[in-house]
Amino acid sequence: MDAIRIYGGKRLEGQTTIQGSKNASLPILAATLLIKGTCELENCPDISDVFHMQRLLTSLGCKVEKKEGIVRVNTECLSECDMPSDSVGVMRSSIMLLGALLARTGYVCMEYPGGCVIGARPIDLHLQSLRKMGVRIEETGAGFCAEASKINGTVLRLPFVSVGVTENLILAAVLAEGETVIEPAAREPEIQALCEFLISAGAQIEGSGTDRLIIRGVRSLRPVRYRIPADRIVAGTYLSACMCTGGRVFLKDAPVNHMESVLETAVRMGAAIDREPEGILVTGRDHESTCNSLITGCYPAFPTDMQSPFMVVMAVSGHAGRIEETVFENRFRIVSQLRRMGAGITVQGSTAYIDGNSRLKGMIVQAEELRGGAALVVAALAAEGTGIVTNRHYIDRGYEDIVLSLRELGADIELA
Ligand code: EPZ
Repeated sequence: MDAIRIYGGKRLEGQTTIQGSKNASLPILAATLLIKGTCELENCPDISDVFHMQRLLTSLGCKVEKKEGIVRVNTECLSECDMPSDSVGVMRSSIMLLGALLARTGYVCMEYPGGCVIGARPIDLHLQSLRKMGVRIEETGAGFCAEASKINGTVLRLPFVSVGVTENLILAAVLAEGETVIEPAAREPEIQALCEFLISAGAQIEGSGTDRLIIRGVRSLRPVRYRIPADRIVAGTYLSACMCTGGRVFLKDAPVNHMESVLETAVRMGAAIDREPEGILVTGRDHESTCNSLITGCYPAFPTDMQSPFMVVMAVSGHAGRIEETVFENRFRIVSQLRRMGAGITVQGSTAYIDGNSRLKGMIVQAEELRGGAALVVAALAAEGTGIVTNRHYIDRGYEDIVLSLRELGADIELA
């Protein structure tokens, strides 16, 4: 079955190693299209979104192989051709191919990207900004065709911060004519990793990690080997599981330096965090929670991808609280499933009010998207009795093997 069975109520005790970052791997895989030759990526996670991105690269004529944990992408024989719609439509990050293919070939036709149901997730700002760089874009029913004999660097003042738009514009700008300024640029660690990868290949990018990026176009980039950083959202998910069960776990390779807002919130919610050279030691219930409000935002604020798992933490923290979701307009979808498990949560617009004294009961619940599905697993770990989370394929989009990782942390969990 496409499900996970959890026998809840057990404290988590153990150690697990945090996988490579989904949201760093995807734009970097797209960025290999900018480079003639073979790039080698270490620590690329084995997740379905990466599989779909590799499939898209193969459909474009690239040779993609994975051996001993290294993904090799050879783009020598890039040939313009249709990308399989089931891979384009299954995830949001297929839009990254737009910027990269325009820079490499000057032409791309593709269907609109897919992605989680957490919001409308339009691509208007992607298309608007590329048009300002001289790209001609014609939208058709199911997708669009874009063409640019050359891409012109320019000053791009964005109306709001967007991770994907920042990434797409970086990919379009690194081989463009002249200088491109992106402001405000997103500052996420995944964008810093993309810049690091491109700079190591010879790109000229200034301001990585700040809200102002300056990119000077170069003539070509050279193949490189790069290690994908650990996934801060996966680390945060297992941290929240430990907090809900009151255990003590070691998260090896957790990217501590990129988790400040999550770790600080965890401590306010009663956890103890010991930063070690190789990761973090988490004690789930070390002291009383003093946190009664949480607002999501662009990095370095509290990440929207951690909102659902931390809603579960708040629900069993013993203290009433509220969560303000400022990034996506439909990211409280798991509330109905959590309420069926006994959580006391009400939603008014972009704010969720959590009563904090929920006694969760295991039952059959349904994942509808990636991080909400992971949060339902976290809830089942904290619940009494047996819980089943269906639609496991949503969770497999971003977690290499959530069952194995949580079993390593002492959870009583199995595929169902
Ligand atoms: C990236 O999505 C991540 N996905 C998301 O992670 C993450 O939640 C999000 O950034 C915010 O941090 C990947 O990196 C693959 P945005 P993205 O553009 O780029 C609106 C996960 O679980 N917008 O920063 O799509 C948009 O609707 C996923 O791993 C437009 O209106 O996020 C949203 O409300 C979920 N028009 C806001 O901007 C556009 O053209 C921010 O979205 C583009 C975006």
